[in-house]
Amino acid sequence: MSKIVFSGVQPSGVLHIGNYLGAIKNWTDIVSKAEQGDSFIFSVVDLHAITVHQKPEDLKKSIYKTIAAYIACGLDYGADNVTLFVQSTVKEHAELGWILSCNTNLGWLDRMTQYKSKTQANKERECLGLYSYPVLMAADILLYGTHIVPVGEDQVQHIELARDIAEKMNSLYKKPLFTVPKYQLVSEAKRIMSLKDGLSKMSKSEQDDASRINLDDTADIIAKKIKRAATDSITGIYMAEGRAAVNNLIAIFAAFSGLSTQQVSMQYQSCQTSVFKSDLTELLVSKLSPIAKAIAGLEGDTKTLDKVIKNGQQKASQIAERNICTLKQNIGIYC
Ligand code: ADP
Ligand code: TRP
Repeated sequence: MSKIVFSGVQPSGVLHIGNYLGAIKNWTDIVSKAEQGDSFIFSVVDLHAITVHQKPEDLKKSIYKTIAAYIACGLDYGADNVTLFVQSTVKEHAELGWILSCNTNLGWLDRMTQYKSKTQANKERECLGLYSYPVLMAADILLYGTHIVPVGEDQVQHIELARDIAEKMNSLYKKPLFTVPKYQLVSEAKRIMSLKDGLSKMSKSEQDDASRINLDDTADIIAKKIKRAATDSITGIYMAEGRAAVNNLIAIFAAFSGLSTQQVSMQYQSCQTSVFKSDLTELLVSKLSPIAKAIAGLEGDTKTLDKVIKNGQQKASQIAERNICTLKQNIGIYC
């Protein structure tokens, strides 16, 4: 049976190797294994980015940069079965978000850990959008009849929510209104951690740029960041419990080299940290410099990017308009 794959990344800063290994590389791998009739839809989810205040000029630049990164990482926007688009250009996302919000239990949203971790400091002051964010994410997925959502581990809970909403509405309306989606994780790089703290996730929103390797970092910057990356005082590079920072560097090495983490441990167990770090730097530079070069070439070419975005909008809207109309008819509202 042919399948529909959907995923997205927020344009809220420069993409890093966590986004690449946890999401975009996984997307290109899935596309490369496409079977007849499969369809792949990847969105720059700008409506999600504004749940936290963004400077307009920075946001616009980030949207272009993220689309440029999708292309630079190998997604072929010219292929019939691939759609790259910007979420806010297809208004049905917001529309479906509302319909789903009328069918989402508040208790389900209260349990979302990402919201909890983002609002711990001051819940009174946070906006409604940050709370209902997972409902909009469910709308992104359910709008296209998605079967598979390739993401990093941090998003699993959100996809489970999309499944709960779909199942609840299918049963309430006694009709298969929605396809119930599944998530897909990559084994070696489900969760890449910060270079500064092996216990927290590598993230765009982390203040310290040295905590991550960005897709457009130069060779010099990569070398500096890896040199200063946290390790521990144990001799030898091998995976072990309690070695979060070293385990993370091994996982990054494994993901980029195609080796397993055990193989990397075997290779470096009696090595000095500096030797391992130098090999890791070389590996990262060789894998990332073509991507950085492609991003640099594309991000200023807004004419080409506008064309890609417009074309993506047309392809995505066609499906979205049809599906939302069927849904509206099925639930008794006007279409
Ligand atoms: P960030 O946390 O850096 O803002 P996003 O929330 O926009 O990143 O995530 C975009 C995609 O990248 C999601 O599929 C997410 O699961 C994946 N991702 C983000 N950070 C990591 C990470 N550190 N390790 C693995 N995957 C990640
Ligand atoms: N919430 C996701 C993140 O922060 C981004 C996202 C929004 C997404 N809508 C989506 C991912 C739909 C997969 C499918 O990473």
